[in-house]
Order: sequence, then structure tokens, then C-alpha cells
Amino acid sequence: MRQKIVAGNWKMNKTVVEGRVLIEGLKDLVGKVTDPVVLVCPPFTALTEIAMSLKDSEIRIGGQHMHEADSGAFTGEIAAEMLLTSGCSHVILGHSERRALFSETDEAVNIKAKKALSAGLVPIVCVGETLEERETGNTEKVIEGQLGGSLDSLSESDMKKTVIAYEPVWAIGTGKTATPEQAEEVHGFIRKLLADKYGSKIAEEVTILYGGSVKGSNAAGLFAKENIDGALVGGASLKADDFAAIVNAMV
Ligand code: 13P
Repeated sequence: MRQKIVAGNWKMNKTVVEGRVLIEGLKDLVGKVTDPVVLVCPPFTALTEIAMSLKDSEIRIGGQHMHEADSGAFTGEIAAEMLLTSGCSHVILGHSERRALFSETDEAVNIKAKKALSAGLVPIVCVGETLEERETGNTEKVIEGQLGGSLDSLSESDMKKTVIAYEPVWAIGTGKTATPEQAEEVHGFIRKLLADKYGSKIAEEVTILYGGSVKGSNAAGLFAKENIDGALVGGASLKADDFAAIVNAMV
């Protein structure tokens, strides 16, 4: 059985105080849920405080980004060990915003993923096509390229530990969710690519999340699909009720 995950990517939102309020609300609503794994990814500034607040709960915590070096002169960056010792179990890598706004390449995501895995963090590797790429019939080509580059030469045991998030860029923050059928088509394609490379046994074990305007009202339809193992949620993860509704759509 694949691990199901509902993850909240807070992006650049919530001060420490605001984050604590959100997490107290979430603890009341879904703090004891273990299946799916409930994960929150606050900004770096709030990680330690949120991790402390989560000590008596099942909710887990992740980073939104990571540098591949152990330490050194990389102003503004965060190392794997820093995430780990702040209480993180996961780290989001290659989010489309990082790719588009901060020029992150598949190669860079690949190096970061390997570093995260060797440090003991679970990488959540994001892929997804733009509207133009979809409309010109290039969705599969783009996904195959991003996955091939981002997961290049990962060992079988590392692949099993890695989570993939399919986030079509046109669905992020737009209110335009992919239909369950559109999402399932790409999730099935991703699993087939994994099976071609690693064999079907490993491909069946990899958790593949959908992200892009997921809400309480559309989550159940997405989660009903065979290859959709959870969600990576942006906007709707910023309110406890909204995020809990998505978690409860899977419980
Ligand atoms: P929204 O849920 O706001 O569309 O964001 C999705 C996302 O980018 C999660 O990483």
C-alpha cells in the first residue's frame, strides 16, 4: 500500500504568530490523523516554533526548498541538516515557482533530491506543464523531461522513498483545478515512466500527489482516482477549516 499524504505548502505566508494560530486550529481538527500523513510546510522562519507546537500531534513538518551544500557561503539558503534539526521530515523540491522565478533546473533539483535523501529527508519532487505546453500537446514530453532530469540516477531504494507532486502550472493559484480525469491521466503516465525505469513493483510504491487549486469541494473526486495518492495544497492550506476539509476527504 502506498503512503497517502496531504501536504500544505504555505509558500511565503504566515508570520510565526500567525503560523502558531493556524497550527493550533489544525491540531484540533486533524491532529490525530495518521492516514493520510498530514504535512505542513511553513516558511523557514516558523519551522522551529511550529515543530514545537506539533510535538503532541501526528502532523508532520517539511521545508519548501533546500540547498545541496552542507554549509558555507550561500547567503539566504538553508541546508538539509538545518531542516532536519528544525524538525522536518520532508522537503519540497523543484516547485514550479522555484523553477520559474528562481531559475531552478532539473539538474539542480536532482542534486538537491540526492542530498535530501542522503540526509534522511523525504524529497517531494514537483513537476508540471504550463498552459501553453498543454495546449500544444506537449504535456507528456514536459513531464518526462522534468522527471528524467530531476530523478536522474536515483537508486531503487531512494526512488521508493521519494514523493512526486504533479502540479500543472495553469492550475496553481488560479482556481482552475485539473479534472480528476486530467490529473489521473498524467499520474498514470508518471507511474508508467517509473515502471519503465524501476519496474512495476517500485512504481506501485511511489506516492504521487496532485497540486493545483485543491479544495475541500474537489478533493474527494481527485482522491478517488487510482493513481492520485494525496495533495500538495497551497491557498487552501492557509486556513485550518479548509485544509482539514481536504484531509477529511481522504480519511
Ligand atoms: P494552490 O493550491 O494555491 O493552487 O497552490 C498549489 C501549490 O502550488 C502547492 O505547492
